[in-house]
Amino acid sequence: MDSKIDKADFKLEKIESAKRIKDSDELKVGSEIFDKQTLETLYKLSKQSYLDVLNGAISTGKEANVLKGIKDDSTFVAVKIYRIVTSDFKKMQYYIQGDPRFNIRTHNKRQLVNAWVNKEFRNLNRAYKAKVSVPNPITTENNILLLEFIGDSDGNPAQPVRNQKPENSDDFADKVLFELKKFIHDAKLIHGDLSNFNILNYNEYPVIIDVSQSVVLDHPIARELLDRDILNMYKEFNKIKAKISIDEIKEKINYDKIFK
Ligand SMILES: Nc1ncnc2c1ncn2[C@@H]1O[C@H](COP(=O)(O)OP(=O)(O)O)[C@@H](O)[C@H]1O
Ligand SMILES: [Mg+2]
Repeated sequence: MDSKIDKADFKLEKIESAKRIKDSDELKVGSEIFDKQTLETLYKLSKQSYLDVLNGAISTGKEANVLKGIKDDSTFVAVKIYRIVTSDFKKMQYYIQGDPRFNIRTHNKRQLVNAWVNKEFRNLNRAYKAKVSVPNPITTENNILLLEFIGDSDGNPAQPVRNQKPENSDDFADKVLFELKKFIHDAKLIHGDLSNFNILNYNEYPVIIDVSQSVVLDHPIARELLDRDILNMYKEFNKIKAKISIDEIKEKINYDKIFK
């Protein structure tokens, strides 16, 4: 993990004043992780009481950092911040084109990233309303998504299945497929990036995360993504030694009824 991002541990009230002090340590840390817009967005969220303190990184991914936030009432919140510079413009365009909910044709990276984050928020909302086990989306602003923190009350985040193997793999795989079936049939979405990294093991129950690339069922690439998800889950289940075949996976998610 990037140690600079680990140091992203400060009270947000300080951001505004730090911005004015050119050589402040906090600004140095801040400016390497966050650009000006991101800092301003964080400050805005803190003014609206969504967030009080940033308390270090949970994960540093290719395109986004997930930080732990603390609210005024001392509860935790997950803060997913998409980086503008290292975002995969081509991939974002590929997934956003063909999604009837988004009609944006832009060559502006920042605009596309913001639309991408909005897409993740809307996908999460859809899944959450369909009672799928996903984090409750709280709000989104520019390149930042705030979501329910999945973890214990001491602030220890739930680990991805990749890092925390389930105690009973067959049972866990069953629960994943039960949630996936709701994700597809009730939320009417295809995940598109299912893996043991994007499923958290929260007290032996799966929580599906990372839905920015998820597409609606009538998206032209939906079937292709679904078949890829199924194959990937088959491989991932194998890694955790859950005994399940591709046909059984298809049966459990009612595959034949998905694209009628
Ligand atoms: N709501 C959350 N609560 C706790 N940890 C989370 C939450 N969302 C994400 N994480 C952690 O951050 C990591 C990266 O999040 P993810 O949404 O998959 O972003 P990325 O696009 O970087 O893969 C996850 O694997 C998980 O460890
Ligand atoms: Mg991920």
